[in-house]
Amino acid sequence: MSEDPRAAPLRTAVIVGSTRETRAGDGIGRWFAALAAGRDDHEVDLLDLAAWEFPARRTDTPDAAVTAFTRRLARADGFVVVTPEYNRSFPAALKQAVDYGFDEWQAKPVAFVSYGYRWAGRYAVEQLRSVFTELHAVTLRDGLHLDLRDNAPDGADSGDHADGTAFPGDAAAEDRHRVAHRMLDRLSWWGLTLREGRAARPYVG
Ligand SMILES: Cc1cc2nc3c(=O)[nH]c(=O)nc-3n(C[C@H](O)[C@H](O)[C@H](O)COP(=O)(O)O)c2cc1C
Repeated sequence: MSEDPRAAPLRTAVIVGSTRETRAGDGIGRWFAALAAGRDDHEVDLLDLAAWEFPARRTDTPDAAVTAFTRRLARADGFVVVTPEYNRSFPAALKQAVDYGFDEWQAKPVAFVSYGYRWAGRYAVEQLRSVFTELHAVTLRDGLHLDLRDNAPDGADSGDHADGTAFPGDAAAEDRHRVAHRMLDRLSWWGLTLREGRAARPYVG
């Protein structure tokens, strides 16, 4: 008997938006990817922008790295964008990568994990919502916003995070897990619903 395609896990691309040297983003991104991969309903593809050799200037002819990147976006049913906040916005490297796609984002859900000080990256997320609206993506109300004042970002990329422990000893870890899983529940709902919708009828792009 063939498997019900509706039961297949959501292909979730986790995009790490910071490429800065000594960034906190890789630890946070890997922690979140491990947490999502620990669930049955998400098949995680980690897209760390620091690992991609994109051209410095946008080319008119197809670039191999850009083509490979947009193929990975196309495979995904949903996205989690992990973003820091730089001067009340998100990193230029992230905008460059987002702009490589168009159809690849359409009629798919996007959730956010943000981090920064005090506002925990919320300004960056609000600007990203506007960008993804233009791309016909659906942004989730729920986000996970990490205030770096509460945490030890330098320690975020050490150790094995398969248990979902981002910042060992952090009193807020339990709450963070609850919020992260709620967000992933909703990403799963939107991702599966939109995947079925796209299969039933072409999106009016
Ligand atoms: C150029 C720059 C601008 C920043 N602006 C903000 C800001 O507006 N709000 C904020 O909360 N943190 C700001 N920060 C602090 C970052 O949130 C913090 O350094 C964080 O670790 C950056 O993410 P990354 O380490 O993954 O690059 C800024 C950092 C940089 C490098």
